[in-house]
Amino acid sequence: MCDEQGWMLRNSVVWNKVKGGPDNSKDKLRNVHEDLFHFTISRKCYYDVSMARKEPLKARVQNGAVVSATGVTGVRYKRQIELSAILSDEQKSCAFLELNGILKQVKNGEIADFRMIIKGQQRTTHSDSTRVSGRAKELETKGFYFLKYHPDGAKMGDVWDIIPEDAQGRTAHFAPYPADLCRTPILAACPPNGIVLVPFCGTGTTMAVAYENERKSVGIDIVESYIQYSGERIGCDEQGQRVLREVCHAR
Ligand SMILES: C[S@@+](CC[C@H](N)C(=O)[O-])C[C@H]1O[C@@H](n2cnc3c(N)ncnc32)[C@H](O)[C@@H]1O
Repeated sequence: MCDEQGWMLRNSVVWNKVKGGPDNSKDKLRNVHEDLFHFTISRKCYYDVSMARKEPLKARVQNGAVVSATGVTGVRYKRQIELSAILSDEQKSCAFLELNGILKQVKNGEIADFRMIIKGQQRTTHSDSTRVSGRAKELETKGFYFLKYHPDGAKMGDVWDIIPEDAQGRTAHFAPYPADLCRTPILAACPPNGIVLVPFCGTGTTMAVAYENERKSVGIDIVESYIQYSGERIGCDEQGQRVLREVCHAR
């Protein structure tokens, strides 16, 4: 797709199925993952990153002190600055000032969490070379820097742990995938009221998730009964027109 048609691979996601089927072969590992690829046709394609965030992290106030989402209070950093034999007095007062400012941001919910990197105490997060890393340069000149965490939560990573649909007793299709697998791609990469194209739609899981989330969809499958079944899941008649049932009216 990239070499011959000019698509851009923005993400390669590993779907970790957590539990896989048994595999008795003696010369390879058991397969428990599948790959999901996010290709775009240009760099400027629609993407709503707020739909690809984990649960928001929340800071709290405990015994009158601000505690970040992962329990950072700043007390340890203050002690490290105080006892530092490397920082100059000017760098120390600057570090205290900025640390207090960051704690205020946590308290006000502007950031959910932070880490402070202090020269001689913590390792730089990228590279020690001031020629390669802006952070290393900051550490060299200022003596410290901060890593701040977005208040709406961290972005999802590219390994997703999702338990597969239970195929036991399924008569409609042998390989449906779970709704959770296509929810984030639909919400992040298709605008509300946009159209999701679903080649190989099978039982129409993707179309059902699109419908639940106010996106239209077009499903394609070689097996006619699957098309029929997919349509029924979202309330379509035999011609594929959506029948406005009570539930749709309510919406
Ligand atoms: C793994 S299933 C998709 C299951 C679907 N994701 C779901 O959750 O139900 C793949 C589907 O591709 C369809 N298929 C296979 N070859 C096809 C072709 N050449 N054209 C259209 N559909 C095809 C099969 O009938 C099958 O329903």
